[in-house]
Amino acid sequence: MEKVDTETINLIRQKTDIVSVISSYLPLTKRGKNYFGICPFHDDNNPSMSVSTEKQMYKCFSCGAAGNVFTFVKEYENIPFIEAVSILGEKCGITVKYNKGNTQVENKNSALYEIYELASKFYQNNIHSKEAKEAKDYLSKRNIDETVIREFKIGLALRNSSLLAKLLTSKNFTNKDLKASGLLIEKGLDYSDLYYNRIMFPLYDLNGNVVGFSGRIYNIEDPSKYINTRETPIFKKGELLYNYHRAKNEARKEGKIIIVEGFLDVIRAYTVGIYNVVATMGTAVTKTQAHLIKKMAKEVILCFDGDEAGAKATIACANELLNIGVTPKVVRLEDNMDPDEYILKKGQEDFFKKLEYPITILDFKRNYLKKDKNLNSIEETSLYVKEMVEELSKIDDDILRELTLKKISEDTNLDIEFLKEKLKEKNNIVKVEKKTKIKKETNKKNKYEKAERYLLYYMLQDKEVVKMYSEAKPYLPDTHMRMLALEILHFYKETGKVELADIISEINGREELTKSLNEIILLDLKETYTKEQIYDYFKVIREFNIEYEINRLKKQMKEETVPKEKAKLAQKIIELKVEENQK
Ligand code: CTP
Ligand code: MN
Repeated sequence: MEKVDTETINLIRQKTDIVSVISSYLPLTKRGKNYFGICPFHDDNNPSMSVSTEKQMYKCFSCGAAGNVFTFVKEYENIPFIEAVSILGEKCGITVKYNKGNTQVENKNSALYEIYELASKFYQNNIHSKEAKEAKDYLSKRNIDETVIREFKIGLALRNSSLLAKLLTSKNFTNKDLKASGLLIEKGLDYSDLYYNRIMFPLYDLNGNVVGFSGRIYNIEDPSKYINTRETPIFKKGELLYNYHRAKNEARKEGKIIIVEGFLDVIRAYTVGIYNVVATMGTAVTKTQAHLIKKMAKEVILCFDGDEAGAKATIACANELLNIGVTPKVVRLEDNMDPDEYILKKGQEDFFKKLEYPITILDFKRNYLKKDKNLNSIEETSLYVKEMVEELSKIDDDILRELTLKKISEDTNLDIEFLKEKLKEKNNIVKVEKKTKIKKETNKKNKYEKAERYLLYYMLQDKEVVKMYSEAKPYLPDTHMRMLALEILHFYKETGKVELADIISEINGREELTKSLNEIILLDLKETYTKEQIYDYFKVIREFNIEYEINRLKKQMKEETVPKEKAKLAQKIIELKVEENQK
């Protein structure tokens, strides 16, 4: 990888305002000197992340995430540090050249990527062959034309079930890789293809690499409509969303992401010009997927199949999203239709309208929970209220809550104040259950550990402390803290100042060091200090070192058998004790 020089990185950082960058990902509110928002790096509904204009840093008191504008974009977008630098550089007119290159994980599994890439090309070739007529007819009956076939790399597995096996075994893949791919079946010493006579839809990872397939029947009866490739190190269904790599930028532009169930729904939406759409692919939405959704856009619209299963999936997905502070909206399609069918039957204009007027998640749940209940019955009304109160307790949006309370009051003829009381009771229980555990680890640290950390804290506040450190040269017991101090000193010597936001860039990639630095950043200390205070830290650190040395010598003395040597060690210990008492 080409190395980008520090000056360029620091220049980009100076030209970039962290508040406006982070604001483009999530809402920030100004409070005092700083801005606050809901931290995207852990599950939360409270604004525990603060962003400082002055320091050009962010930190989260709840999960301990901290850093500068580059690390934010890096963590948020799941991209290498240098790519974050490049993206932000672009915005202020500085071009950063670097090799995109595969990440290490990809390298480790490069054979698997290669196998899937080859297979994908192979299937794509097939669909343009003579034997593909029936499959093509099927696709065109479903309104999937040539452009779409190419765009989504749709392919075909032919009737003969050893063609891919032949191709793959002719290459230099190991048997282990061939087996791991899941695309072939072992037959004695030979292989045959898992897929035959199916239309092949490639599945992509978050970066758009082909990592799996879903093969669909098209000309025969078969109990399994789709056959999916099994999970491999590069394909974990619960960690990806179909079309994520295409949709994420569109979603960010529009501020809106549409979630559907099937990949064919995505493809259909695409044909009518809707690009900010991803599919869950028929499985329950996982935490990881919920986070991916949250990252893409603020407004989330769930547009699942119109049947009962789709309604259930909507609720499950919505709850996963509510857990991480996202309140989705819902579009319901009539007559059990899925988006694909809806667009084809009712037309795109009708579908656009639907998307324009989604209902709130609470209205959806109200309808769903009311549907099979007789609200003239006390028991069923009571159950309905209980269920809705439960749902309300998951919602942060107070206006939405108030509006819904009113509707429930109308549904049930119960007084709104009574309903509010019920909600309050419920919320109190929830609060006690949640009781966030704020890390107070620094309080558990001993005197010496505190001294070195506090010293570093003030070194980062004021270069005067760095000068004091440079003169006194205390030996910090903790390796990483010691390295950090040296980094700060080095930075000061190079630039004549201490710029925390740039030091973060400097130590990027060194995990242990970054962890230690974050620990310091998250310390909640006074900004002002006295020189005596700093000298006191030095003293404590020195005491620790002497004590450490004394203990080491004592141990050595125990093991020493030669009397003369033993005496020497004893003498040293005495000297150290004198030194300790002097200072
Ligand atoms: N799915 C699957 N295996 C199945 C059925 C479905 O993996 N046997 C997944 C597929 O990823 C599919 C999604 O679940 O995209 C939604 O399923 P479904 O609604 O049945 O598929 P459709 O998108 O409606 O596909 P088609 O229109 O071809 O029937
Ligand atoms: Mn369908």
